[in-house]
Amino acid sequence: MSVHKEVKRITTNTLQEMKQRGEKIAMLTSYDYSMATIVDDAGIDVILVGDSASNVMAGHETTLPITLDQMIYHASSVVRAIKRSLVVVDLPFGSYQGNSKEALNSAIRIMKESGAHAVKMEGGKEIAESISRILAAGIPVMGHLGLTPQSIYKFGTYTVRAKEEAEAQKLREDAITLQELGCFGIVLEKIPAKLAQEVSQSLSIPTIGIGAGRHCDGQVLVIHDMLGLNKGFRPRFLRQYANLYDIMNEAIKSYIGDVKSNDFPNEKEQY
Ligand code: KIV
Repeated sequence: MSVHKEVKRITTNTLQEMKQRGEKIAMLTSYDYSMATIVDDAGIDVILVGDSASNVMAGHETTLPITLDQMIYHASSVVRAIKRSLVVVDLPFGSYQGNSKEALNSAIRIMKESGAHAVKMEGGKEIAESISRILAAGIPVMGHLGLTPQSIYKFGTYTVRAKEEAEAQKLREDAITLQELGCFGIVLEKIPAKLAQEVSQSLSIPTIGIGAGRHCDGQVLVIHDMLGLNKGFRPRFLRQYANLYDIMNEAIKSYIGDVKSNDFPNEKEQY
């Protein structure tokens, strides 16, 4: 008999069941082993290895520069840490927009080389062929509509999307298309709460919101933002649950002080 307690893993089916019984889905990003260990142990449902790693881990202004190899590195570090959560990985900019064969190859590399459970892709009808091909290979796909940061140079700004009826209508149609193709969920980023509510109610698959109001079936935040590691980044949609910047800053200053004053290491901290 095994002494290890069985951990019930979250799957795409679990998320579907959660939507059906009205249980909200909690998703956070992670990009490395240590952070993912804490996030998984805390009981998160879904870990997103987001291409926001380009911003918060590498310091780029946009998500565009991160490469497929770098996403695989982050994803495999996260996968090694998790016991329970579903791990979804962003297909980075340039790894799927060219054609559906390239998209499939990119998705296969992520699944094979990182051990993750699903991929996420930004866009609607225009990437339908690629989504179908990836799904046909048995790889679960999560969609992403609204503010899609890989298109930031088309939008020109990170402001709320789909405020105008034409864009709202395209988003409604894209959401249905993604569901019909077989996506297991859709991230809705920075759109009016009323539109997100309407879309969430019209779909049988779960929606995960970020800046899209409380009626989505789940919520996602970038972990650095919600832990207050990104000093000064305080958009309206963000609830900051800790101020780790200040806590870490104080700890590091204490360490520097202790080293300079020869207080660290003391006799008990040496061999
Ligand atoms: O890359 C990311 O972190 C994301 C979330 C903001 C949804 O796509």
